[in-house]
Amino acid sequence: MTRHFTRIRDLGQEGARQVLVRAKEMKDTAFRGDILAGKSIVMIFEKASTRTRLSFEVGINQLGGKSIFMTPAESQLGRSEPLRDTARVISRYNDGMVVRTFGQEKIDELVKYGSVPVINALTDQGHPCQIMSDILTMYERTPDFESLRVAWIGDGNNMANSWIEAAIYFPFELTVAVPEGYDPDMNLLVFAQSSGAKVRLVRDPEEAAKGAHYINTDVWASMGQEAEQARREVAFKGFCVDSALMALAAPNAKFMHCLPAHRGEEVSEEVFESDASIVFDQAENRLHMQKAIMEWAFSE
Ligand code: CP
Ligand code: NVA
Repeated sequence: MTRHFTRIRDLGQEGARQVLVRAKEMKDTAFRGDILAGKSIVMIFEKASTRTRLSFEVGINQLGGKSIFMTPAESQLGRSEPLRDTARVISRYNDGMVVRTFGQEKIDELVKYGSVPVINALTDQGHPCQIMSDILTMYERTPDFESLRVAWIGDGNNMANSWIEAAIYFPFELTVAVPEGYDPDMNLLVFAQSSGAKVRLVRDPEEAAKGAHYINTDVWASMGQEAEQARREVAFKGFCVDSALMALAAPNAKFMHCLPAHRGEEVSEEVFESDASIVFDQAENRLHMQKAIMEWAFSE
């Protein structure tokens, strides 16, 4: 069976735990291996990337494989060759795809028409690799998630959606604070709640921050929403994670951000640069988590 990682749910309860523990082990042992020896992995990126691209390429290298980086500008994708044709061509030469794109349906199309595993490296709908990596960043500090409070303060975007999905498998309490009109995927939220996730939606950032052990945020305008920047700056007034908001959190609470960050918008310079900020540990953990995800998906 081909194992795709298009959303957190593809891992299932057991897979989610297994990948988390394996990523920690890979980090602790600075794992290098030949899991991908002789394999080629195509990386299709329709949006910009620093961390995701680098961590996948370095990870593929450390697992003995080869990566091939493709953008629409340098391939026939940019000249309207259908994705379903590209998927079939890629599958004739390669052993897997890592894809960053816009609509989630594009990932689904690659899965449908291709015959090699597909990993979602960010869509408008979700950022599952990042959230698994962020969960590793919490796990290495606070391995017992039962009594943990996680806050999401900001846009109900791809990151928020994947956090909500992760709450199905990991027993932390997740409070999502978003302004009206910027909700996450509400069908997903309802599904997560009915699947046992301890997740709730609030409008007040202070309510989410109170007693939180980890406070997460992200940019107010994601890639593809640049034209909405000014409107969003107005809508998200009061949602900046600053020292006043952090002061409401649990003692020793940590600040998390997937990066890149816009200081002075979703996070103050002071919080970003404070000892509470673990954003570069998050960035590092992308590498360890990508390796565990690739082992799960590509070495079957
Ligand atoms: N966090 C993240 O996905 O960063 P990049 O956009 O740089 O890959
Ligand atoms: N929500 C952001 C995440 C970037 C890593 C975006 O989609 O642009």
